[in-house]
Amino acid sequence: MSSEVISREVKRRRTFAIISHPDAGKSTMTEALALHAHMISEAGAVHGKGSRRATVSDWMEMEKARGISVTSTALQFNYTPESSTAPLPNVINLVDTPGHSDFSEDTYRVLTAVDAAVMLIDAAKGLEPQTLKLFQVCRHRGIPVITVVNKWDRPGQTPLELIDEISERIGLIPTPLYVPVGIAGDYRGLLDRRTGEYIHFERTAGGAKIAPEILMNADEAAEREGDAWTEAQEEDQLLSELGQNHDQEMFLAGQTSPMIFTSAMLNFGVRQLLDALVEFAPPPHGRESIDGDEREVTDPFSAVVFKVQAGMDSSHRDRLAYMRIVSGEFERGMVVTHAQTGKPFATKYAQAVFGRDRSTVDNAYPGDVVGLVNAMALAPGDTLYMDSKVQFPPIPSFAPEHFSALRVTTADKYKQFRKAVDQMDAEGVVQVLRNDIRGDASPVMAAVGPMQFEVVTARMKAEFNVDTIVEPLGYSIARRTDEASAPELNRQRGVEVFTRSDGAILALFSDKWRLQYIEKEHSDLLLEPLVAAAD
Ligand code: G4P
Repeated sequence: MSSEVISREVKRRRTFAIISHPDAGKSTMTEALALHAHMISEAGAVHGKGSRRATVSDWMEMEKARGISVTSTALQFNYTPESSTAPLPNVINLVDTPGHSDFSEDTYRVLTAVDAAVMLIDAAKGLEPQTLKLFQVCRHRGIPVITVVNKWDRPGQTPLELIDEISERIGLIPTPLYVPVGIAGDYRGLLDRRTGEYIHFERTAGGAKIAPEILMNADEAAEREGDAWTEAQEEDQLLSELGQNHDQEMFLAGQTSPMIFTSAMLNFGVRQLLDALVEFAPPPHGRESIDGDEREVTDPFSAVVFKVQAGMDSSHRDRLAYMRIVSGEFERGMVVTHAQTGKPFATKYAQAVFGRDRSTVDNAYPGDVVGLVNAMALAPGDTLYMDSKVQFPPIPSFAPEHFSALRVTTADKYKQFRKAVDQMDAEGVVQVLRNDIRGDASPVMAAVGPMQFEVVTARMKAEFNVDTIVEPLGYSIARRTDEASAPELNRQRGVEVFTRSDGAILALFSDKWRLQYIEKEHSDLLLEPLVAAAD
């Protein structure tokens, strides 16, 4: 495959994730994007309200055709901005992030697979805890962020209040690309800050269709919208005086964030978001290997596994590994090498997880996400490559805050139990800790959120037919330690030392006071904090 073809494919691709607090409208926005990409003919499938209910089958048919839920993991669609003169459409990969904060570790892994993020905020609520946490991850990973203020059709804060909140609380300077015309709750259209023109949106019944746009010059806008237009113009001027105009370099450096006001429900501002993604979000780029060399996108095939999941097919036990392609071209059927084991991996059953139809998975390019079936040996963070060897740095695991012992309740299922524990461990569902005292019969699970434990017990039952019980342990903090410090730590009250499956030695403490006390009394012991989400 010529590198020109790969360069061309890379150039037209954009891979991003939406980060938001639950209820900010991520599902509605995903659907609105699919509508604008003409993947579905009507919106409303997510909520299936009254007149919009008919579209549910539309959405489900699409899911069925792909054999997997489009809302899980990734959605790929073609999109051509109106102003585009390119011969081919853009290819947009929207990688899904789990909604619940207990799965923030999964979200972190997903964010290693994207080149940009859309921070979706509810206009009335502003920055919420989950958004803040995920934003910190983006900052940590140097992922540029586009800010979307959603639900502008409902009463909320003023644009300037929201801008101030974002700059003050997270130090990111919003640079609105458009100023909304009409306050929150009275969304009429957008002032395009680059052209000074007015884009007026027309409502469609139930917000099911793409909202027609009427383009007007400033005089026409003033006549039609009166004070609402004047206010928008004043805000535009104020932002320009403050220097809050889009600057591509500062955006890519994570200092500024293009901002867009939307109503995902009415499909207002959604086209503008897609255009901004195409125009400003960076195309896929190379990645640094553990040796410090850059794997360029045009180099031979390489990919990173960022998510491993039990198969969707309940009739047989299967494991799907999702890889993000870093370089080269992926062709279904090619035999790649698993860098961690040096073993070959056949990709005959690569899944069309996001193509428009099944055939598109036959080829994929940097930025694309491909699901590999039967991926029993693959774990999040693993590298796959062809021809020239490469290994990318592992994805750091989070500092766990919840610890529970897991026990099998049916004695004759011990073998399956062990196998199941190893699988959950490899998939990264929980971290598994062991020590001699507890033995193998009762490994300790460490998690960022307790819901991860529920996933383990439910899957133990469903996939391995093993009944288990979870016994919460009285620990809340973990520190990395070493062999030399372990005996002394084990002698302390409220402390227990474990070995994690990756070989790390962890000491668990009942609470921070216990930890502080031991740090003070035994300053010679190694007690290193683990990587936290916001580090
Ligand atoms: P999430 O995936 O981020 O959790 O959010 P989701 O899209 O499910 O949206 C959460 C709620 O917010 C839904 O209302 C949805 O209809 C509403 N919503 C999303 N975008 C907009 C918007 O732009 N404007 C308005 N006004 N509402 C929006 P719900 O009451 O939970 O469901 P439903 O009764 O609407 O079906």
